[in-house]
Amino acid sequence: MTQPIEASIALDPAHTVAPVSRRTFGSFVEHLGRCVYTGIFEPGHPSADADGIRTDVADLVRELGVSSIRYPGGNFVSGYRWEDGVGPVAERPARLDLAWHTTESNRFGTNEFLRWAATQGVEPMMAVNLGTRGIQEALDLLEYCNIPGGTALSDLRRAHGFAAPHKVRMWCLGNEMDGPWQVGHKTATEYGRLAAETARAMRLIDSDLELVACGSSGSAMPTFGEWEATVLEHTYNEVDFISAHAYYEEKGGDLASFLASAVDMDGFIEGVISAADHVRAVKKASKRINISFDEWNVWYMDRPESDIPKHSWPEAPRLLEDVYCAADAVVVGSLLISLLRRSDRVTAASLAQLVNVIAPIMTEPGGDAWRQTTFYPFALTSALAKGDVLRVMPVSPVHATERFGDVSALDAVATWDADAGAGVVFAVNRHPSSPMELSIDARGLGTVAGATATLVHDDDPKARNTQAQPDRVLPREVPVTVDGSRLTLSLPAVSWAAVQVRV
Ligand code: AHR
Repeated sequence: MTQPIEASIALDPAHTVAPVSRRTFGSFVEHLGRCVYTGIFEPGHPSADADGIRTDVADLVRELGVSSIRYPGGNFVSGYRWEDGVGPVAERPARLDLAWHTTESNRFGTNEFLRWAATQGVEPMMAVNLGTRGIQEALDLLEYCNIPGGTALSDLRRAHGFAAPHKVRMWCLGNEMDGPWQVGHKTATEYGRLAAETARAMRLIDSDLELVACGSSGSAMPTFGEWEATVLEHTYNEVDFISAHAYYEEKGGDLASFLASAVDMDGFIEGVISAADHVRAVKKASKRINISFDEWNVWYMDRPESDIPKHSWPEAPRLLEDVYCAADAVVVGSLLISLLRRSDRVTAASLAQLVNVIAPIMTEPGGDAWRQTTFYPFALTSALAKGDVLRVMPVSPVHATERFGDVSALDAVATWDADAGAGVVFAVNRHPSSPMELSIDARGLGTVAGATATLVHDDDPKARNTQAQPDRVLPREVPVTVDGSRLTLSLPAVSWAAVQVRV
């Protein structure tokens, strides 16, 4: 039996970072693989409603606690003609989708998505195509969505059966334009100019928008840093957010480095903030640009699941259908700790993606829907994080990792809802083999009335939930010892926990 390592944190409501932003718990629906078709939308499915929406999936999306959803891509948006996806379904054209080498039927489009989002109670976050298209098409889509009526495109929407404007507030100006894989890939200057002009024109239609400029597709991009600075030089006054994207995977059996993936995310966030604040200083601006971390997750890019079709153009094929294990769930929980920790600047985020495609929810066509392991840390954090985010300083042994050097075994963040007298600690034991005794000093919150903890862990870090065994990995309650204001609990190696404290 390995000796447990000892780690501790103290909670102090004076160490407030920012209020919890509900938009931290966003997700992403792309026309990719089976995210839309046989994911959220499947006419003829036993659970489908009159609009073809799978209500079994809709229920799970609600349980996941998603706040906002980005749509329709992703790489897909950079070749998308939004007009193809509106109007009578029988008249909609099928098109080649160059991003994923598939055929897009366009049976589901803007109105179907926005109606679904409204029914789900989630905020839509639309992306415009700045790959193959430009300012005019972005303006057209905005007019179609947000103008009540009396113009060609708003009246077209009304003729399509949607009398009320959709009032979409948050818009992404393209997707991953720094990536050579992107259809219509651009240099930072080319993109910065186009994004600025598009933003300026969109605000002439609707001054109330919140706009996101594309940042880097990952911290390892050769242009990272320069890209943000250049794009923001052009767009600083026109946009509210710069985006960041990051995907992590276990490579070569190096579990210790994989568990420490958040070290990269932390550094990435700091880098984007530095670039944005550099431009702020140069421009002598008072406004700050925040981060929309609008794609993040675990993604096994080199597995056959992510092979893009080469010789055919299938419709809604199985693509990027990663089946996640217990260790993947621990990493997802740990990445959420990083996002929450910088709630002062990361004010929106999207788990990529929502259903079937690197997703917390899986489905079978005509069949079941179930929760992947990664569903649980997301759902628990979304449900429990309330009030203000508190900065905590983990006191913890470090261990060596190949990719990130010495890494603290414990990482943690806390939230504090003063009105409800409820604190929550989100903690992860990133050590690949040592259990941890975690001690929490809750004196700063007041007199502790009780505490409970929910653990995401499996003795087999590779354990997965599948259609045959959908409940193989489940969160479970674990004991917390309360001694005055000191709480202690055991965190097994490779585990994530939410500890609720009542005062
Ligand atoms: O989420 C899958 C893909 O990852 C998105 O389409 C793209 O933006 C990113 O590279």
